[in-house]
Amino acid sequence: MSPLVPHLILYLLLLTVVTGEILRPRFYSETCPEAESIVRNEMKKAMIREARSVASVMRLQFHDCFVNGCDASVLLDDTPNMLGEKLALSNINSLRSFEVVDDIKEALEKACPATVSCADIVIMASRDAVALTGGPDWEVKLGRKDSFTASQKDSDDIMPSPRANATFLIDLFKRFDLSVKDMVALSGSHSIGQARCFSIMFRLYNQSGSGKPDPALEPAYRQKLDKLCPLSVDQNVTGPLDATPVVFDNQYFKDLVSGRGFLNSDQTLYTSRETREYVKMFSEDQAEFFRAFAEGMVKLGDLQSGRGGEIRLENFEVRSDPSAVELGFLRIEMDWQGQKLVEQLMQILLVIAGVVAVVVGYATESFRTMMLIYAGGVVLTTLITVPNWPFYNLHPLKWLDPSEAEKHPKPEVVVASKKKFSKK
Ligand code: HEM
Repeated sequence: MSPLVPHLILYLLLLTVVTGEILRPRFYSETCPEAESIVRNEMKKAMIREARSVASVMRLQFHDCFVNGCDASVLLDDTPNMLGEKLALSNINSLRSFEVVDDIKEALEKACPATVSCADIVIMASRDAVALTGGPDWEVKLGRKDSFTASQKDSDDIMPSPRANATFLIDLFKRFDLSVKDMVALSGSHSIGQARCFSIMFRLYNQSGSGKPDPALEPAYRQKLDKLCPLSVDQNVTGPLDATPVVFDNQYFKDLVSGRGFLNSDQTLYTSRETREYVKMFSEDQAEFFRAFAEGMVKLGDLQSGRGGEIRLENFEVRSDPSAVELGFLRIEMDWQGQKLVEQLMQILLVIAGVVAVVVGYATESFRTMMLIYAGGVVLTTLITVPNWPFYNLHPLKWLDPSEAEKHPKPEVVVASKKKFSKK
């Protein structure tokens, strides 16, 4: 055996560590084989305690992944130096069931300490929410790291308001490489769960400043909503998002076809020409909806932040490596496609450097040459991928028009609960 072979093996191991983990199914099959069944079991228990809770957990995936990737940043409480996402416009008094994630984390920490990230928990639990309520089941890719930081501002800027229309939603989802079909299918998540009167008051009483209700509302349904949400109502009162709010099915789309969508952002998918055909299709073909939904959830779960990461632990002490945070901020400046390009370039360049180093090292039978070439490759990769070069910003994100956020008044905090596991 060539004396280079052990070095080659060492080198390949090193390469795996340097290039970082890529999301893949059964990521914990060696380190925590029970992970997926523990999560499902805890979700079952949560559903028995409160049927709605699984829908609330599933919503976390959307609110986590759209804001700087699926990194569990949505679970972080505010700190003196950081305004977290929990109190962002779309989340305050609205995102809930964080305690279910805490319970899952606790069960996983008992079985396999410091192994499974909260970001992966959100992804597994969201899949389970759908499967447990009668929807499709799919294989999830895992291996995410938890973020060190969260951004209320990014959440405010990105997350859509219930007033959004189809054109706005199409554009928003497109920025995340999600197609019109993905967007309509993912909106089908509103097949389970509830929403507050707060989210539809304008629709019932002053649609687009007209002083009138949304004409797209079917009259009998509007009367029902008027009763649920009279002008004097406590706006935290909730109503079901479709006619079967604890069953994941295509009833949501049937409701849209008959003018019985709860949110403006739901109904607009049928009133708008660009999305109507998909609503019709899903209302008639549940299997097609299930397929498209599962595909959309996997794509949503693929959104990554490029921030430095960790596996958040029970006491959630900050174990941050400041340079990693800095690196994270560098990346956050980049547009979304820039971040993707950086990740791909880094992996490609390191692999090329590795292959060239091994081939030349082998040919010259020189370990030193191999290491020198590889080190050169690492330096070159760093120079290309770490600074925020202009070519990483060719697709600047067009954030929400501030007027859209203004239309989305910030309610007062009702409960500011301290979460056992969700703070750092
Ligand atoms: C297409 C754009 C979307 C908009 C504008 C939107 C907006 C909303 C709003 C306003 C609520 C009710 C909040 C409240 O009144 O407290 C809600 C609830 C919900 N959303 Fe969305 N959403 C969208 C997409 C999604 C996606 C992609 C998912 C999941 C993958 C999702 C999952 C949910 C769930 C499950 C609920 C019910 C949660 C509960 O019962 O606690 N939504 N959404």
